[in-house]
Amino acid sequence: MDSLELTYQVPGDDFSRAGEASSAVKRTLKTLGFPPDLIRRIAIAMYEAEINMVIHADGGVVTARISPELVEVSFADVGPGIPDIDLAMQEGYSTASEQVRDLGFGAGMGLPNMKKYADDMTITTTVGVGTTVLLQFQIA
Ligand SMILES: Nc1ncnc2c1ncn2[C@@H]1O[C@H](COP(=O)(O)OP(=O)(O)OP(=O)(O)O)[C@@H](O)[C@H]1O
Ligand SMILES: [Mg+2]
Repeated sequence: MDSLELTYQVPGDDFSRAGEASSAVKRTLKTLGFPPDLIRRIAIAMYEAEINMVIHADGGVVTARISPELVEVSFADVGPGIPDIDLAMQEGYSTASEQVRDLGFGAGMGLPNMKKYADDMTITTTVGVGTTVLLQFQIA
């Protein structure tokens, strides 16, 4: 199998569509026969990253690169940026609004879980410019 690249636009204002990119990648990985445990980790981490773009950054672009050795997914937005990454990475830290919390988000667990489920996570962010999160999963 050669490497495969998939791209999805994530709308910023639509919670009902959030998770579509994660679901689509999950389906593709299943079809390609990747291990179920790995697919589960990727789907969880991707969903958190996707929701973060919806809640915190008015949407963005998901790009998944799938090869037999590595699954690499980037989440690029042109949102407000993250002023303090160490703080944002802390369990329980959230700037989510009351309205967003009422929908069940804002526990401050998304970034810590992404870190936990990915083999590698890199956040590149500039306040006022945007954020890109890169998640990497090694195929054993
Ligand atoms: N793409 C992003 N753009 C701007 N800020 C972000 C982005 N992703 C995360 N953040 C900031 O980092 C904080 C922590 O993110 P995290 O995903 O851990 O928690 P949350 O999204 O607030 O709540 P949860 O993920 O548990 O629903 C967010 O509250 C927000 O301030
Ligand atoms: Mg989150």
